Amino acid sequence: MNILIVGSGAREDIITRSLAKSKDKPSLYCYGSSNNPGIAALTAEPIYIGDLTNINEITEFAKKHKIDFAVIGPEAPLEKGVVDALFQEGIQCIGPFKELARIETSKSFAMELLTSAGIDGCPNYCVFSSMEGVEWYIKNILGGVENCVFKPDGLTGGKGVMVYGDHFQTLEEVLGYAQELVNQDQGKKFVIAEKLEGEEGSLMAFCDKNGHIVFMPWVQDNKRRYSGDKGPNTGGMGSYSLANHLLPFLTKEDDEKARGIMRKTIETLNKQSGNPFIGILYGGFIKTKDGIKFIEYNARFGDPEALNALALLDHLESDLVTIFKAMIDGTLNEISVKFRNEASFALY
Ligand code: AMP
Ligand code: GLY
Repeated sequence: MNILIVGSGAREDIITRSLAKSKDKPSLYCYGSSNNPGIAALTAEPIYIGDLTNINEITEFAKKHKIDFAVIGPEAPLEKGVVDALFQEGIQCIGPFKELARIETSKSFAMELLTSAGIDGCPNYCVFSSMEGVEWYIKNILGGVENCVFKPDGLTGGKGVMVYGDHFQTLEEVLGYAQELVNQDQGKKFVIAEKLEGEEGSLMAFCDKNGHIVFMPWVQDNKRRYSGDKGPNTGGMGSYSLANHLLPFLTKEDDEKARGIMRKTIETLNKQSGNPFIGILYGGFIKTKDGIKFIEYNARFGDPEALNALALLDHLESDLVTIFKAMIDGTLNEISVKFRNEASFALY
């Protein structure tokens, strides 16, 4: 069996290591953006270094190596439609079609899906593509700039969301961000949402062709710089998970609520699209004084959260190749997926 891993960072490293442990002994290939000696030590040939958004080149590479299925690590190739292109060539993927990846690549799409499906837990939000009504919404619905976050609609590499207190302090500043976006790209959407306060957590799930979902342990991606969360939000400082697969601030009810939101999301997404979401759904949640609320979705493993979750996969009972094959076949309900009851951490 030949498996292609697209991407060459820490997330793809743990995916590759986990696949390499499989009893199926697959031949692994990697199309990445840089060399990663950890991955290269496990692949059948050196990592092919290219552009992760060059869909034609990725497809040619997969055809050349007679790939049985590909695992798409990062979001950029998903947004460009790598899964659609590989599917045309008869190559299955762990990762959704471009249309379904909008659950990550468009914040307005994700929030509107939750609303249209009547899923409880979304913060108050409004989608704009001009300045009309922005100031009014912030003042009258959110009750002032201090309750506001600003989110450009598309992928921004984790750096696009602006939060009151961290990125702006005044109404003029946030209106300035919005105006800048409108000037740059007429018709480009952005979301203004209610700012939520609380601890954040990530819940990832394997999703198969028939809508079955298997959840992984909760992980917290620690984003604030400095001890005691005193510093600004960053792309990430490290991550941890606990032996009971929850987080210190989460109850069983919180876990059930988040799972329910994700189950309903997959059900709605699959029904709307007509195609199944095959891949990893990553839910970003926040525990507020009013309970669990939704922050964002990713259509892939989190980086670094994948390190925590996959390091805990019980390889004696749960083989990642078997899991991925079951996702493609729609038989996740028939196999055992076990995570060890141990804590984990990843430190940058
Ligand atoms: P996102 O790209 O949507 O995950 O947002 C990046 C980060 O911005 C999140 O991890 C949160 O820390 C913060 N954030 C996003 N939405 C909200 C919100 N509604 N309230 C408070 N913080 C938020
Ligand atoms: N750890 C956040 C992300 O992967 O987007």
